[in-house]
Amino acid sequence: MFKVRFVGGIACMVATMAGCGVATASPHANSPVPSEPTLINYVDPSMVRGLSTRSLNSGEAAGRRVHATYPAVADAPRLTEKLFKTVTASLARFAGNDVPAGALPNPEFNVDWQLAAASPEVLGVRLRIGQSMGSGWSESRTTLWYDRANRRALESPGLIRDSAALTTLAGIVRRELALRGPLVNPNALRPERSMFDSLGFNPRGDLVVEFDDKQVGLGVAGRVAVAVPSATAAPLLSETGLRARRASVGTATLISQKDMLAASMDRPAARSSKAGTVDCAKARCVALTYEDGPGPETGRLLNILGAYRARATFFTLGSNASARPELLRRMRDEGHLVANHTWSHRDLSVLSSAMLADQLTRAQHAIVQAIGQVPTLMRPPYGGTDEQVTSVARRLGMSVVRWSVDAEDRDDPDPRAIARRTVSQVRPGSIVLMRDFRPATVDAAPAILRELAAKGYTFVTVPELYGPRAMEPGRTYDSGTMSNVPDRRSMS
Ligand code: CO
Repeated sequence: MFKVRFVGGIACMVATMAGCGVATASPHANSPVPSEPTLINYVDPSMVRGLSTRSLNSGEAAGRRVHATYPAVADAPRLTEKLFKTVTASLARFAGNDVPAGALPNPEFNVDWQLAAASPEVLGVRLRIGQSMGSGWSESRTTLWYDRANRRALESPGLIRDSAALTTLAGIVRRELALRGPLVNPNALRPERSMFDSLGFNPRGDLVVEFDDKQVGLGVAGRVAVAVPSATAAPLLSETGLRARRASVGTATLISQKDMLAASMDRPAARSSKAGTVDCAKARCVALTYEDGPGPETGRLLNILGAYRARATFFTLGSNASARPELLRRMRDEGHLVANHTWSHRDLSVLSSAMLADQLTRAQHAIVQAIGQVPTLMRPPYGGTDEQVTSVARRLGMSVVRWSVDAEDRDDPDPRAIARRTVSQVRPGSIVLMRDFRPATVDAAPAILRELAAKGYTFVTVPELYGPRAMEPGRTYDSGTMSNVPDRRSMS
């Protein structure tokens, strides 16, 4: 888990994606050089035209927690296809594993991604695939590349010239690993393509070779990576490798968690621009909530909500929000409420307090960057909450919001069934859980809105259920009708 985040060459990205002809980031910018040379660039995904995000949660049943997101790039369909295949193959392996009976915590599969590079010449997407079968978290990393010159999608070894160069690289990396102490085993490294499936560059242009957990060391060693100096690596690179390095070199800004928090200090709290127009003490109010987006279906959902003059609360994932900030701005401008659903949808109840704070802070930062307002509500993925979650939420100024009605749209492809289930369960004050990346959920929206409106319901954002009583940070809310019940324990 990164504690920091690189934003590489953003100003340049604007220029290059707009086609102004500037091909590389400014090499003379006096930005801080990263103290950790093996961190791979983080490029702002919203700067890449035609990029959207895809999410998967199939197989979440039977206590398994599954969430995967990856990018789709309109003019790089071969890359999108390769990303999809990589993610689904990993998920199939996870699903095929037998879970030890009564495994605690729940088995979990999670895929997060970042852009390692983006230029008119190449795109690099790094996937972080993590899983636990009930004990011990382990991560593998895979970086896929797309060469726009020949429209090829490549695995990382495609950045290296040939097998002789790969053997040379393996020798260099093995010598470096030999200096790392007893947790790392340099002899585990062989000059095979499969061992070099995550190659990227740091902002100085050094080639970063990273390994999966336990690939060249003990599990406690965590992520093992080597930065091969630019001049040493250059003769080993293929044409695509050289293009990838050109795209990666440039400005880099290191954003610490402290800076992320500071960025939201003087911003107003997020609220619906139409809050206060409905008195839920008198009206029959219901709060529709959508989580895990924004995604490819979110724009269509916003159109439907607008047509019915309905407002909703969107618990957005930071990684998706940073890719599609314009959708968050639409939510804000159309009277909805934007809230925090963490950065990458990990089960918070198994994370350390530092990692949990990182999940919330990074998402908070992405949302603030998008809408200029600070969310005051968070929903823990899978509803998994405990004392630690509520205490970190309190510190970050957020109430914990769960739900009283689950549309159970996780795997259901039938919009009529989703609508029927939802409408039959709603009571005044209900908080309804749905997922806005699922097409069937969005297809169900018109029927839900029509039928609930016919029963006299008004659609408000979550804080409006509580009227003038402000929601308290660190407190857990399940529905409007249960607002007097003090903080209750998780159901995880
Ligand atoms: Co979720």
